[in-house]
Amino acid sequence: MHSEAIAHPNIALIKYWGNREQALRIPANGSISLTLGGLDNRMSVRFDGSLESDTLVINEAPAAPAMIERASKHLDLLRTMAQVTDRAELVSETNFPLGAGIASSAAAFAAITIAAASALQLELNPEELSRIARRGSGSAARSIQGGFVELLAGDSDKTSFAQQIAPEDHWPIVNLVVIVDDQVKHTGSSTGHSLAASSPLQESRVADAPRRLQACRNAILERDFPSLTQIVERDSDMMHAIMMTSEPPLHFWTGATLKVMAAVRDLREEGISVCYTIDAGPNVHCLCLPESERDVLQALTGYENASWTVLRAQAGPAARVV
Ligand code: DP6
Repeated sequence: MHSEAIAHPNIALIKYWGNREQALRIPANGSISLTLGGLDNRMSVRFDGSLESDTLVINEAPAAPAMIERASKHLDLLRTMAQVTDRAELVSETNFPLGAGIASSAAAFAAITIAAASALQLELNPEELSRIARRGSGSAARSIQGGFVELLAGDSDKTSFAQQIAPEDHWPIVNLVVIVDDQVKHTGSSTGHSLAASSPLQESRVADAPRRLQACRNAILERDFPSLTQIVERDSDMMHAIMMTSEPPLHFWTGATLKVMAAVRDLREEGISVCYTIDAGPNVHCLCLPESERDVLQALTGYENASWTVLRAQAGPAARVV
């Protein structure tokens, strides 16, 4: 019982932060993302009755015990559905650095879900696969789909899943990820989600989410980059306001993060279409259209003699068996 899958990470354009239900990872608010083609997690899953425990190797190194435990718990969901008890050997290869501010858990749990479901011969539709992936990592629910994707918050396991807003060829957005720091982040998202409700600002951020989601959906469907810029930057700043005002507070931005944000605004002053969005880390995702890519890249790599590494991704496809 063996299968392989490729899944891509995604960058949230409208972010979720905080879970309504922590154990099932039902998010406090809906979110919209772009699946990141060009950044691949290739996952092989082999169930074998002779294995004593699940194993996980990532880029040729054995994974940390906590990571294996999380993957194992996820496999249990699929094993229960297939009524199988065999342990599994997981081997993951990524063509992008882990800890680079790319949501690597999204690609990993989407890939495990797709590969394991196929190896166990479970016939599941994208909605069911997305619901399962969500339980491994909230953002993984979105990586099941390609292009522009919305994760419906829902209010139960059944109603919280991702669906496609538009396919990857609808709008060829490029994401230039400026890596200002390649260290693994100090606080993981799972811990962060559990702190969100302690910010007095969270309630109004969540209450305003339907408006932001609608503005983002419209900007995508109308390929309206100025409107996308406005809503994406505002939403990212709002999430970081929650992080900075939770108890304990989380500060992910560094001086370099603020410099990249300023560089993006400077570029816009010069008439170049680009906007930033930042996840739970210091690195900055700069979104632009292919015609601006060269200018943006040149400006970012040369900005005030900074030596930032820039990773490139573009709108990409759904997770799939290979
Ligand atoms: C800031 O999906 O990484 O990227 O379920 O704990 O794995 P876990 O959380 P995760 O949270 C994503 C947080 C975010 C915003 C987003 O992607 O919407």
